[in-house]
Amino acid sequence: MRIVLFTGKGGVGKTTTAAATAVVAAAAGLRTAVMSTDPAHSLADSFGVELADEMSEVAPNCFAQQLDAQARMESSWSEIRDYLRGLFDWAGLDDIEAEELSVIPGLDEVFALADIKTFDNSGEWDLLVVDCAPTAETIRFLSLPDILGWYMERLFPLGRRVTKVVGPVVSRLAGGVPVAGDAVFGATERFYQRLEGVKGLLTDASRSSVRLVVNPEKMVVAEARRTYTYLSLFGYPVDAVIANRVLPDEIEDPWFSSWKQAQALHLDSIEEGFAPLPILRSELASEEIVGIDRLAAFGERLYDGVDPASVLHEGHPFRMDKADDEVVVSIDLPFARKEELEVSVALGELFITVGPYRRAVMLPDSLRRRSVRGAALADGTLRVRFGHD
Ligand SMILES: Nc1ncnc2c1ncn2[C@@H]1O[C@H](COP(=O)(O)OP(=O)(O)OP(=O)(O)O)[C@@H](O)[C@H]1O
Ligand SMILES: [Mg+2]
Repeated sequence: MRIVLFTGKGGVGKTTTAAATAVVAAAAGLRTAVMSTDPAHSLADSFGVELADEMSEVAPNCFAQQLDAQARMESSWSEIRDYLRGLFDWAGLDDIEAEELSVIPGLDEVFALADIKTFDNSGEWDLLVVDCAPTAETIRFLSLPDILGWYMERLFPLGRRVTKVVGPVVSRLAGGVPVAGDAVFGATERFYQRLEGVKGLLTDASRSSVRLVVNPEKMVVAEARRTYTYLSLFGYPVDAVIANRVLPDEIEDPWFSSWKQAQALHLDSIEEGFAPLPILRSELASEEIVGIDRLAAFGERLYDGVDPASVLHEGHPFRMDKADDEVVVSIDLPFARKEELEVSVALGELFITVGPYRRAVMLPDSLRRRSVRGAALADGTLRVRFGHD
């Protein structure tokens, strides 16, 4: 199954391009699923149909769902919620507050990640299209597997992820906090197993790609540049930029002439800055792009005969290479500036901070025995060199 995710600044046309991609792929015969990680749920509006938590067929071969995190929480996480209630009781909060607090932020994202894994495991689909929320939430969403993994590795070290062993460990750590029952750990464990591997799936360039949707406007492009940097930091391969709402040549009204000039400049800077990524263009339509027919027409023009499920550009933002007596860890950080970058190694982990985001990379044993010889950012790639002492 191929996975294509769409992200970009608010309102640029993510949902429209995601839905159009699915419609074109499905028409070409691919079993296609579309989901959204955005609680704002505009997929249904885009297709012009009602959507529910279960998959429904919106066009031949094209299925969509609208995740209902609250309902999922009620059914599969009721055990955890009870545990949290217990926890908040212990912390001296009354029932009502506990009730409110037990709605964990980011839950939609966690369920969405688990769904990606479930779609992949089912073997039923050729393509999964993911309509993501605006940039900031998407980066939070995509850094979740890293963060969850980080906690799980520490709270549930491999080989000890067995409820009977974990119980006492956690109770000692928590010092007086009510210890979750086996049922809770069972649920956490099952849930984590559903998430395990999703990061590997999403960072495998042959299986997953992110497409950045932009409009040829200054602020939108600036945000897309940063998004490209942060996605690369976490190892997510971007395979194309979609420049949407380009003013068509037919528009000759003088009112739009400076708009057209500005767009031309921004399009040039997109082509230049994001190279070698392909830039797909789509014009501003004369009407809203709602419903299967309009989505299909929009999608056909956007892809212009190219298979929307194909890998449009294969990049590997994270690499590890041996060179002479050194091991070099390379991380592509396009558009990153030296001033916003911080690199450190501690306790067997490589920490890379770019602006507000930090990634912790667990180093393999072979690298833990080595020491860092140097780190440099050149041509959009950070290289950290490990040598022998
Ligand atoms: N090329 C285009 N021509 C005309 N209308 C467009 C075009 N692209 C998108 N639209 C319209 O703009 C509106 C916003 O698009 P869409 O919902 O796809 O943006 P979005 O990036 O998903 O927004 P959000 O950040 O809110 O999720 C929709 O009404 C859509 O039909
Ligand atoms: Mg949207």
